[in-house]
Amino acid sequence: MLHKLNFWKNRKPNSSEQVYTIDTIKKNPIPEHIAIIMDGNGRWAQKRALPRIAGHHEGTKVVRKITKLANSLGVKVLTLYAFSTENWKRPKSEVDYLMKLPEEFLQTFLPELIKENVQVRVMGMKDSLPEHTFRAVQNAINKTSDNDGMILNFALNYGSRNEIVQAVNSIIADQKSGILKEEEVTEDIFSTYLMTQELSDPDLLIRTSGVVRLSNFMLWQLSYAEFWFTETLWPDFSEQHFLEAIDEFQKRARRFGGV
Ligand code: IPE
Ligand code: IPE
Ligand code: MG
Repeated sequence: MLHKLNFWKNRKPNSSEQVYTIDTIKKNPIPEHIAIIMDGNGRWAQKRALPRIAGHHEGTKVVRKITKLANSLGVKVLTLYAFSTENWKRPKSEVDYLMKLPEEFLQTFLPELIKENVQVRVMGMKDSLPEHTFRAVQNAINKTSDNDGMILNFALNYGSRNEIVQAVNSIIADQKSGILKEEEVTEDIFSTYLMTQELSDPDLLIRTSGVVRLSNFMLWQLSYAEFWFTETLWPDFSEQHFLEAIDEFQKRARRFGGV
């Protein structure tokens, strides 16, 4: 076991020197929904003696790259954890920058997303975002709402526990008003009260930067996802890493409790 753990920890990205191509990856089933905890921006910047926000800025370039690749692979939903309900604990200057990032990102890439038929969605506590952040994301949602290609779902001011509690409260309210009968709360009905609503559950979860935890991300929806972790920091995450994660996903046996 110890040996296995060490092997995992010391594993370098692409240590096999294997080069993955879109064509070979496409020969096997592509995960429909991929969720990514984009972590390590701060450490990427620190290593370069740069302010943490430089890492966040660099990270947006990777968002663009991976979105393009996921779209061309035929991924249906790409969910990206951009800001958690716990990230408000960070220094105000960093939070302020993170709240400007959607504008910065969308100003540059929205035309591209429109052209590439991507639908932008946002899940999280949108109401408590600063007005300027809310406006930027809402504009992107509106401008891409006629697209029917890949869903690019940003988890922004998102926390899974908050999401679940909100769902429970909405269910109670709907029961009180008679919209929902008490005995009607099944797993499927419960899912429709979550922020993912009609989205399928993630098939594959990727987390970068060597951190191995969920950090309050999609606790309900990740019940049967395959997890893939890499030591690579998000700003260094490449197309090869993404293809490698999918390649490993394709080799896993998903049993969903069966045999
Ligand atoms: C992920 O990078 C981005 C956000 C959480 C917004 P971090 O900022 O968490 O980077 P590290 O973990 O401090 O390196
Ligand atoms: C999770 O990363 C949130 C995002 C990637 C947006 P954090 O860096 O905030 O997680 P912890 O604090 O290390 O658990
Ligand atoms: Mg982090």
